[in-house]
Amino acid sequence: MPLSDLLDAVSANAALPEDMSEATPPQVYTSQAFLELERDAIFNREWICVGRADEFESPGDYRVMTISRDEVVILRDHDGVLRAMSNICRHRMMSLLEGEGTIGGKITCPYHAWTYRLDGQLIGAAHMRDNFDKQDCHLPQFAVEEWQGWVYVNLDANAEPLAPRLTPLAELLSNYDVTSYRTLFRVDEIWDTNWKILFQNFMEPYHLFAVHSKTVEPVLPTQHAHVLTGGPGYCLYTQGRNPGVAFEYSEAMTNPNPNLSEDEVNSVPLFGAFPAQMASVSAERTFWMSLMPVETDKVRVFWGVDVHPDAMPSGAEFEARVEELKASFHAINDEDKPITSAIARNAAALSAQPGRLSPKEQTIWEFQRYLARMLTAPSPSASKAAE
Ligand code: FES
Ligand SMILES: [Fe+2]
Repeated sequence: MPLSDLLDAVSANAALPEDMSEATPPQVYTSQAFLELERDAIFNREWICVGRADEFESPGDYRVMTISRDEVVILRDHDGVLRAMSNICRHRMMSLLEGEGTIGGKITCPYHAWTYRLDGQLIGAAHMRDNFDKQDCHLPQFAVEEWQGWVYVNLDANAEPLAPRLTPLAELLSNYDVTSYRTLFRVDEIWDTNWKILFQNFMEPYHLFAVHSKTVEPVLPTQHAHVLTGGPGYCLYTQGRNPGVAFEYSEAMTNPNPNLSEDEVNSVPLFGAFPAQMASVSAERTFWMSLMPVETDKVRVFWGVDVHPDAMPSGAEFEARVEELKASFHAINDEDKPITSAIARNAAALSAQPGRLSPKEQTIWEFQRYLARMLTAPSPSASKAAE
């Protein structure tokens, strides 16, 4: 299907009223041209979650992430400022840093040893001519924002700030005090699916009773999950919890947070911050993912769990609890992986057709409308040219 026909199908799908809504047209998951457009119109311009602020606590703490087509290094500078900048050397485009860790006072390119300060300024370049001025050479900087303890990067220097479009979410989450939650563990994986299939899967509670019947469903039943109307920047639902039980631990849960109402203790908000972060927040922990497409049928899934500061036991029990939480969330992901990869395969089939959505999938309808808005809006450069 040509890209223009595909975009027409996306617009038609987004224009359906909620009570007549349908699943995503399958070529949206399989088209290479569609993925390139997503990179241009979404991932080059939107806020992407790159971790938690407490992962960049000390000067020199860094992580390299690929956002759209760009390698980006996120780091804590010696002046305490959290920065995001290009990880591509200004000499001949070698990658500067790899993975994550803590570096000293400077970044040295592994190719010809050009050296940069942690604010991106070039300070060393051996064997260059006198007419080369290091002062003119700086790693391109990207926008960074912290929200609820998560760190987000935007490649677009003119991007609107993130927080205003998530204000209703911040209000809903305020008593949980998510900013104070500490990173418990981080996982970096590639899943065999399209990024949108995984986003939609995380964000709909309709499949819990079927796919997670022995894990999530006894604690957070589909029946008690309610989609709330989202906003231009997010979709949202809440899960009602059967009091006192938890699927993550072997023992009964005790609420660590005296600021929460009884209703809040027994409910778990799940939000999707467009385009590609999904999070579940409870009194004790978060469980979240940030997605980045690698291919049409491969997605980088950066996920983890953070805990309320008083939610974990101390001493020897601590490690046992960490292992228990890891095992629980890996088990849930292992229930979702075969589903999301089957959908990605089937999307290429001649007979693949989108069906009607349930009211418990209103979040998918909202996400589809977001995609249509982003992908069919005139690009900023095109509208500039038209002025
Ligand atoms: S590419 Fe980095 S120093 Fe040459
Ligand atoms: Fe699931």
